[in-house]
Amino acid sequence: MVRYSPVARALHWSIALLILFNLWLGFFRGSLPKDWQVMPIHKSVGLTVLALTLLRIIWRLTHRPPSLPVAMPGWEKLAANATHFIFYALMLILPLTGWIMSSANTRPLSWFFLFDVPKFGVTKGDAIYGISHEAHELLPWLWVALIALHIGAALRHHFVVKDDVLRRML
Ligand code: HEM
Repeated sequence: MVRYSPVARALHWSIALLILFNLWLGFFRGSLPKDWQVMPIHKSVGLTVLALTLLRIIWRLTHRPPSLPVAMPGWEKLAANATHFIFYALMLILPLTGWIMSSANTRPLSWFFLFDVPKFGVTKGDAIYGISHEAHELLPWLWVALIALHIGAALRHHFVVKDDVLRRML
């Protein structure tokens, strides 16, 4: 079995955990304890996802991943490739729209209270602010749906089709 490289696996699982954590912080921010600093942590985690995603894209473009099983039907290969492409787009667009939104704030944007992150020159009256705000509210739902599909497909490969698709990412 040809596995994904250790770097590809480390990036896959660390980014996956950070995204799930950030979806939870984002959706439940209103009901989490006030002293948890939910939004500064949400923003820091999201910026980390963006940085790791840039590394991941560079790695992906310079290292060929193991190919999909030969027995996999064409429609399934297309669905897998489309889902993976949309994931990459979301991993870039969601943190970027959050960053744009937070740039319109007067408060500094910090990375885990360690250092300040530069902001875009955006105000709340700009069209890009409104678009980013809408996108940052709607796209997490698309993400939740695609994550369910992705996990469902991985489990189906492991338990029903019984091929190496899940094992080579473990
Ligand atoms: C993996 C990356 C990220 C994910 C999965 C994520 C997810 C979410 C979710 C689910 C919400 C709640 C949306 C709703 O109202 O229903 C949210 C809100 C928010 N996020 Fe993120 N986010 C990410 C990155 C970022 C980044 C990098 C920033 C800023 C630097 C940010 C700033 C915000 C802000 C300010 C809100 C509140 C928006 C409002 O006032 O309605 N997010 N995020």
